[in-house]
Amino acid sequence: MKSTATIRIGMIGIVSSLIFLTGCSPQSSPPPEGPVRLVLKLGKIFGDPGPLRRLLDQFEKENPGIRVREEMLPSSSDEQHQFYATNLEAGSSDFDVFSLDVIWVPSFARAGWLREVGHLLPAAEREDFFPGPVEAVQYWDRWFALPWYIDAGLLYYRKGLLEKYGFRPPRTWPELVQAAQAVLRKEKGIYGFLWQGKQYEGLVCNVLEYMGSNGGRVFQKGRAVIDSPENQEALGFMRDLIVKYRVSPPLVTSAVEETARNIFGNGGALFMRNWPYAWGLLQREGSPVRGKIGIAPLPFFPGGRSAPTLGGWQLGLNRHSRYPREAEKLLIFLASSPSQKFLALSVGYHPTRKSLYRDKDLAEAQPLLPRLYGIFMEAIPRPVTPYYLMITQVLQPEFSAALSGIKSPGRALRSAHKQVEHIMGAE
Ligand code: GLC
Repeated sequence: MKSTATIRIGMIGIVSSLIFLTGCSPQSSPPPEGPVRLVLKLGKIFGDPGPLRRLLDQFEKENPGIRVREEMLPSSSDEQHQFYATNLEAGSSDFDVFSLDVIWVPSFARAGWLREVGHLLPAAEREDFFPGPVEAVQYWDRWFALPWYIDAGLLYYRKGLLEKYGFRPPRTWPELVQAAQAVLRKEKGIYGFLWQGKQYEGLVCNVLEYMGSNGGRVFQKGRAVIDSPENQEALGFMRDLIVKYRVSPPLVTSAVEETARNIFGNGGALFMRNWPYAWGLLQREGSPVRGKIGIAPLPFFPGGRSAPTLGGWQLGLNRHSRYPREAEKLLIFLASSPSQKFLALSVGYHPTRKSLYRDKDLAEAQPLLPRLYGIFMEAIPRPVTPYYLMITQVLQPEFSAALSGIKSPGRALRSAHKQVEHIMGAE
């Protein structure tokens, strides 16, 4: 016993003389491996990425042992999906927390790529989230991500131009066509109606809005109901916007969100379908359309109702993260009410927490919030199934073929229907 104590004292002596020699004290020296370094992966932020960094700086200040590096992927949901599918399948631990499109959680959870996160939220707090994102983050009745920000399709319009020709924001699709045709007859050099028609996820979001606003569905009780007269009419109408009514230019068949936002933002169109993120960018200082635009619910077919697609992004934890406890802290921080409020004010991400829609600062900064609240409550999720990614891979080329006139809407939908039935049958 005695000898052990002597050895220990001897060791202390050596250590303290080393400390003396190197000039540092045990308190100030960093832990052997230094701070934990987390990587947050997310899609490119349109506009200024500075505010996100400021938020992460705040997190680091509150959690001195953790550093966070943000890494951006391309903005397109499809490209991000490809990145995650490849890396998560390979068991990569190169990122810890990441943002997931509203359509991914069931398939990622089923593949075992996500850690469960339900225990991070008190039950009472869960009720504060919009119902759509809450459904989207669950699989097997368990939470695999936390809702971060919400999207829904909106109609943007040029206020002054509509007023000049005596039109109100259209409530139905035929009213939109009528207003656009009348304005285009007089105004030269602008387009009527821009939307997203490129073959990608955004196209599916757009098409489902026409189908839904005509009483059509893609899925009912787990079965494909794609090939219906309502859906045929809806898809045919989209093609007619380009070739028959000529209110949408052929370029919409290769347009994504930013194509539409850039043209509309330069004063180049009367109407645009886009997500809420565009509002802040269109209204910022120096924007040619600042103060000249309005938003309205997406139109519907006579007898139908507006059917905006639910979009948005969630935050999940990589199952292979080497620092799950620290990653959980970051997740809770980013999905918290103060962070959502900060990002709403600075980046224009719309909170998934309903209580923020009663927040005074937010209401003052964004007078549209009460209107958006109603639209977010009603927004229609894309089919919530682990097979969604396979289904959209079928829908995208078929919808695209119908829009560009390669197939009739009927043929495209029959083919999509058969393939989706096959996917569901193989379950
Ligand atoms: C937006 C939506 C997302 C959707 C994507 C399609 O990012 O939030 O849900 O899949 O657009 O382009």
